[in-house]
This record gives sequence, C-alpha cells and structure tokens, in this order.
Amino acid sequence: MGMTFEKLIKKELEQNSSDIFPLIFEDQKYWVKQARATQSSSLHKFYYFLFPFEVLLPVKAKTAQEALQFETNKLKQFNELGITTPHIAYQDEHVFALEDCGKNINSFIRKRDISKERMYFFIDALLETLAKIHNNGLFHGGAQARNFTFKDDKVYVIDLEDSFEESIDLELLQFRDLLLLLLSLTKTRASFDMDYEYVIEKYIALTNNSSFKMRLKQLASKISWLYCISQIKWVKKLLGRDVKGFFKLIKALKEL
Ligand SMILES: Nc1ncnc2c1ncn2[C@@H]1O[C@H](COP(=O)(O)OP(=O)(O)O)[C@@H](O)[C@H]1O
Ligand SMILES: [Mg+2]
Repeated sequence: MGMTFEKLIKKELEQNSSDIFPLIFEDQKYWVKQARATQSSSLHKFYYFLFPFEVLLPVKAKTAQEALQFETNKLKQFNELGITTPHIAYQDEHVFALEDCGKNINSFIRKRDISKERMYFFIDALLETLAKIHNNGLFHGGAQARNFTFKDDKVYVIDLEDSFEESIDLELLQFRDLLLLLLSLTKTRASFDMDYEYVIEKYIALTNNSSFKMRLKQLASKISWLYCISQIKWVKKLLGRDVKGFFKLIKALKEL
C-alpha cells in the first residue's frame, strides 16, 4: 500500500519551502498551496495615498487561515456558477491541493513567436471568462493572465485569495480586474502590437460595463506627464521592454 495523498503532502511540505508547488500522486499532477496571510505593506498603502490608482488598492488583511478559507470557498462558488476552477483534491487549515489545470495563459501569450490568431484566441477566452465572473456580480482580485490556465479547451480560474474592504464598490474591483488584465497583456514579446481597443470593446460588449472606457481614458490622462517623459529620445533609450510595453498601453488608453 502506497502513501496516502495527505501523508505525501505533509512530507513534501517539510522539504519544500515555496508557498505553491506541483506534486505528482498516483500519476496525477496537483498543485499544493500553503496558507499565507494576505496584506498590503505600509509602503504600498503610502503609494496608494499618493497615487490613488485602482491597481494600487490595498488588499484586505487576512490571516493565513482566513485567506485559505476565502480562496477555497471562492473556488467552489465559481465552479457552482459554471466558472471553471480546478477541483480541490485536499484541504485542511494549513494547506490545500488543486488538480492540475494546465499551463497558465501568460505562458502562452508572452511568447515571441505566437501567431495573431492564437493570441486573440486566448484573449477572447480570457475576456469571456472574466465577463462571466463580472456578470455574476463577482470579481477575480488578481485577473492577470497568469492567474488563468488553459487545459482541454477550457479556461480555469485560479489564485482567488485577495479580497478588499466591504466598503469598496464591486464596480471598482471589476475595473481593477480589467486593468490588471490589460497590464498583464503588455508583457508579451509578440512580434505584433496588441490591439487594446479591441480588448476593451470586447470586454464592454460582454459585460455592459460601458463606463470603464472613459475611466481607462481618465486614468491614462492622469499619468500622461509620465508618458510625455517616456517619449523623450534619451529617456526612451533607457527604458526596458516591459516599461515600453506599459507606455504603449497608456498611449492606447489615451486615444480611446
Ligand atoms: N491548479 C493549477 N493548475 C495548474 N497550474 C497551477 C495551478 N495552481 C497554481 N498553478 C501555477 O502556479 C502559479 C502560482 O499559483 P497561484 O495560485 O497563482 O499563486 P500565487 O498567489 O503565488 O500567485 C500559477 O500562475 C500557475 O502557473
Ligand atoms: Mg498567481
């Protein structure tokens, strides 16, 4: 008789220092995630005070156990609503294990040699999934491409641990989701430019959150001074690929 799944997890936890790691049990792959507290640092809160941008909105402080409860409950809730999440194979107060649900979508779309067709296949799939979350009156909390996976023609939603103070509007959290998704798209190394207007129009068509277009435009105009600096010749030369990608998004938002 082999080791039970629980014992294997406990054994791996003793050797493994990372919060999340893959694990094979009886030829099946799982991901083990350890409970950890969620909080924003004081520096983060100070930044948010100086620059009240949606992406910087501090997360609610939760203990490790609260965060684990929150994430596993939300995974189950999503599944019941038809928003695909990985099945929880094991759970106790310190750790939970999820069935493997493929590679994260960022790992597909960041590729230099990705075709336009494949890129927009994934973008459409991401937007349809995010819209389903939002149309159910919910938010993701970390809607970057790396927190969605793809397997057997299905998108899975993962990493649902972050939550926010109850006083915060759902609409703000949904706007923040869209912003995080857009920001994560700037990291691609694809050979073609990303059509952000397409992404935004498609999101709005799917959700009816039509005010978000103006909100994105306003956000871009708030930091347009930064954009102007980035366009100075010698500054431009100093900027890395990621930062240039970020300013391409800002330019597209300004022009919405
Ligand atoms: N069930 C799963 N199936 C496939 N990959 C997973 C799964 N859970 C986590 N991962 C991988 O591990 C990464 C980190 O997991 P995540 O839950 O997002 O933790 P974190 O809060 O550290 O970002 C993901 O981006 C994904 O690549
Ligand atoms: Mg993650």
